[in-house]
Amino acid sequence: MSIAKEADMGLFSKDIRTMDDLLLHGLQDIYYAEQQITKAMPKMIDQATNGDLAQGLKLHLEETNKQIERLEQVFKKLGKQPSGTDCPAIDGLIKESDETAGEIDDKSVLDAAIVANAQAVEHYEIARYGTLIAWAEELGHDDIVRFLTTNLNEEKAANTKLNTVALRKGVNRGAVS
Ligand SMILES: [Fe+2]
Ligand SMILES: [Fe+2]
Repeated sequence: MSIAKEADMGLFSKDIRTMDDLLLHGLQDIYYAEQQITKAMPKMIDQATNGDLAQGLKLHLEETNKQIERLEQVFKKLGKQPSGTDCPAIDGLIKESDETAGEIDDKSVLDAAIVANAQAVEHYEIARYGTLIAWAEELGHDDIVRFLTTNLNEEKAANTKLNTVALRKGVNRGAVS
């Protein structure tokens, strides 16, 4: 690892000094997370058997690509280059999702696991966007709040859709029968 990279990660100095720094760090964290999510979702879509689940995930993958573009707009508004910073939380969620899926043979049980894994990701995103919006409002960055709010609303809708798929579109019932 280069010295510059280590300095970026704050190993040599504490780089987050102000709330603006913390907001920027949070944006870099979710920017990285969204990118990792777009890489992980095609496999989940492939593995899903329930048609409503696969379709819902496909739509949310398209939304996620748009969310990344919105985050790029946010960086631009703040006069910053879009960049990501390692987010061990999302790496962990994706790793656990992969590992669980790898342990399951039964396709119906796998669908239930995919819903659970996807919901863990959505809840992470909802937590992050909620915080970023509150900080941006407090700091007077009203111009970025609407981009972040659109992303937050899509995450909430995706989570609600996953609930519907599990509870009313037969994923959970299929898994236990
Ligand atoms: Fe997202
Ligand atoms: Fe999402």
